[in-house]
Amino acid sequence: MDFSLNASTSDEWLQAVLKDFDQFLLDHASAERKASAMAVSFVVQYPDRFALHVPMIRIAREELLHYQKVLKLIHKRKLIWERDSKDPYIAGLQKHMSTDRERRLLDRLVLGSVVEARGVERFALIAGALKGSLADFYQRLSDSESRHARVFLELAKPYFSNDEIASCLSHWLDLEATVMISVPPRAALH
Ligand SMILES: [Fe+2]
Ligand SMILES: [Fe+2]
Repeated sequence: MDFSLNASTSDEWLQAVLKDFDQFLLDHASAERKASAMAVSFVVQYPDRFALHVPMIRIAREELLHYQKVLKLIHKRKLIWERDSKDPYIAGLQKHMSTDRERRLLDRLVLGSVVEARGVERFALIAGALKGSLADFYQRLSDSESRHARVFLELAKPYFSNDEIASCLSHWLDLEATVMISVPPRAALH
């Protein structure tokens, strides 16, 4: 990644996750599944932006693999999920997205990168708090999301100027920090 987030995750969040790790796993699985679907949606919604297609399909496959791996942990613990609840962090961010098709593409790519960066930070926090194979698993996830954060930003380059990308990034970094802080700590990725 070539940028840092504007605010750090609180220790209260990490404590909430560690206190109810089963619940966290259920939410985490759902976040990976949604990330995969989101990457595919770039291909569907921008059929004329060829440069996006192969990298987005690659990300979608990786996110689906993350989903599969978290599901394995869920099965091992015999956890049963209920219907997904809305992710207040993602919903809080999405409502700021432009309705202009061109600008929305830039918003989606840059926000995608910033959300991945939050994943990098939070998975690393979890890895640092756990031991053994689970710690290794979350560290590998953190590394993989770091690659995604970079790819999302790179994919804006064929279509937008460096200045446009930089100012959009600074705008979303501000918003993301505000929204992240506004969501009460809970046993969920966001
Ligand atoms: Fe992922
Ligand atoms: Fe990712």
